[in-house]
Amino acid sequence: VIRVGLLGCGTVGSAVADTLVRRRAELGERAGVDIGLSRIAVRSLAKSRSVSIAAHKWTTDPWEVVQDPDTQVVVEVMGGLEPACDLIRAALRRGKHVVTANKELMADLGGELLAEADEAGTDLLFEASVAGGIPIIRPLKESLAGDRIFRVMGIVNGTTNFILTRMSEEGCSFAEALEEARRLGYSELDPSADVEGFDAAAKLAILSSIAFDARVVSGDITREGMGHITAEDIRSAHDLGYEIKLLAVAELEGEEIAARVSPAMRPQTHPLAAVRDVFNAVFVEGTGVGELMFLGRGAGGGPTGSAVVGDIVEIARNIASGSRSVGGGWYRRPASIKNPDDAVARYYVVLSVLDQPGVLAAIASVFAHHGVSIASVRQEGRREEATLVLITHAASEGAHVATFKDLVALDVVKSLRSKMRVVGTDEG
Ligand SMILES: NC(=O)c1ccc[n+]([C@@H]2O[C@H](COP(=O)([O-])OP(=O)(O)OC[C@H]3O[C@@H](n4cnc5c(N)ncnc54)[C@H](OP(=O)(O)O)[C@@H]3O)[C@@H](O)[C@H]2O)c1
Repeated sequence: VIRVGLLGCGTVGSAVADTLVRRRAELGERAGVDIGLSRIAVRSLAKSRSVSIAAHKWTTDPWEVVQDPDTQVVVEVMGGLEPACDLIRAALRRGKHVVTANKELMADLGGELLAEADEAGTDLLFEASVAGGIPIIRPLKESLAGDRIFRVMGIVNGTTNFILTRMSEEGCSFAEALEEARRLGYSELDPSADVEGFDAAAKLAILSSIAFDARVVSGDITREGMGHITAEDIRSAHDLGYEIKLLAVAELEGEEIAARVSPAMRPQTHPLAAVRDVFNAVFVEGTGVGELMFLGRGAGGGPTGSAVVGDIVEIARNIASGSRSVGGGWYRRPASIKNPDDAVARYYVVLSVLDQPGVLAAIASVFAHHGVSIASVRQEGRREEATLVLITHAASEGAHVATFKDLVALDVVKSLRSKMRVVGTDEG
């Protein structure tokens, strides 16, 4: 019997425990070896649990799980950096295999932990850490190992995708959509990890590391939140043939990696534009394989638990056959990160302007001065309501930022109402 100890039995942990208990015979058959639960650590023993497991297996001391001599596989589904990191490190040093769903931890300390696993000759698997139930780590690591991946683009945060879907389809405001996400249990009381893009940035760091075979951490990702998106932006995007998504995009430019999480307009014809509600999707482009898209549920006990149990079965098979999972040496190679100012982008820009002769010429000269050319311009409203909606051609991020700064200094510009990247057109 291969014994599995759980650190945490919340949303994900209880789905994992339930699967291991209810489908034990089937999983044992599939793995070629029986898989049983040893110990489970939680914060409170008083909480009622959806899984029925013998009382003596529960503990409030996570170290008991890690130190249990009968436990061969430790599953970390408690979240947070500490004590999760210390516990995983200790488990690996004791020769135990580890499965984790913890993106925050893997994005920043995954390299160190993978080095510990290599040293100990054990497995550290983390399929569930990115996009919940979608198999994406293993395909990138194994199936696409022979290709050269040059771009990974994803909608990897279900909460923000739910909010943007509601805004797009119901015409509601950001605040109303966030409130609905809260009511349905899709959003935490403090939504900043989702809305400010931290969660997506951690996932993009993990994806980029594996796709480009170099160690990328959360701090390498340029990040912009989506709380400023208005119903007017969504309407404008629709008029122009775009859908707004919180996109995580990492690209290989020469030997440098450009990685960013930001709201972006995407042509409605692109498959990522059709990803609705809490669904996640990862779009991968490789020189040989061309375009691939992985779509599914990025959160929730069932989907995330499925990915965790998949990793447990892989480890059980490895133990039974005396082998190890493929790790890859990416974490040993520091990534060369492109200066965000040099990244090339197109922008959608909305300006409130004075309705008087010469306004367009003044604005166009600012764009021209910074070498940013205008692809389209549309005037809406008159007098106090006069608004210009522009789309630029591809130019550097730095040139765009300098343009925006000079535009707001013009007497004829009342305010820069909105600006957003346009991604996935012929120009990039
Ligand atoms: N939820 C998802 O859809 C999802 C999707 C992908 C990845 N993940 C990742 O999976 C991990 C778990 O998420 P979750 O949603 O399952 O979290 P959760 O529902 O909050 O569960 C956390 C569990 O860990 C236990 N715990 C926390 N700190 C502990 C400590 N110091 N000692 C002992 N037990 C402790 C809690 O005990 P009590 O039950 O007693 O409070 C609870 O059982 C996180 O890293 C998360 O990012 C989650």
